[in-house]
Amino acid sequence: MKDRHIFLIGFMGTGKSTVGQALAEMLGWRFVDMDERLEKEEGITIPEIFAAYGEPHFRKLESRLLERIAGEERQVVSTGGGIVLAEANRELMMHSGFVAALKADAETIIERVRQDASRPLLRGNVEERVHRMLEERKHAYDFADCSVDTSGKTPGEIAASIVAFREEALRGRSGSGA
Ligand code: S3P
Repeated sequence: MKDRHIFLIGFMGTGKSTVGQALAEMLGWRFVDMDERLEKEEGITIPEIFAAYGEPHFRKLESRLLERIAGEERQVVSTGGGIVLAEANRELMMHSGFVAALKADAETIIERVRQDASRPLLRGNVEERVHRMLEERKHAYDFADCSVDTSGKTPGEIAASIVAFREEALRGRSGSGA
């Protein structure tokens, strides 16, 4: 099932949505940004969900949406940074597609997320929150099929390297299965 969806995972501000769009365009696939779709379906923003119902409720909605997306037609899926925290989500992504992790250093992430109020987990001292969460999640994205360091690269370059990693992985599988 590695030849189905492509899931982009990674910490907040690593460029999953921008790269996802470039990747979908390159492949001629559909693109879905999970945070955006969740907000549209719920008719409420993510900060509002966190404020009104708390993070556990958001995680439930996120996991349910992932299950539905996994069953849909092939697409490039940009996930929320915390989707990897649940083992069931990790398993589902691994079994329904190719998982690409995007990496960026703390300074780049801080620069990207600083002006954006849409991330409830980064409210307050952004520098401190990012450093702490990066430490807490330092191995959370390790299960990916490939990992791409995004620093100094354009979305198109990152998308192209994900395509190359995926093709190599798919060739490797069919090779070993032959
Ligand atoms: C979260 C990341 C956000 C969003 C929510 C929680 C996280 O998505 O899902 O605020 O726990 O890392 P982005 O990674 O797109 O910012």
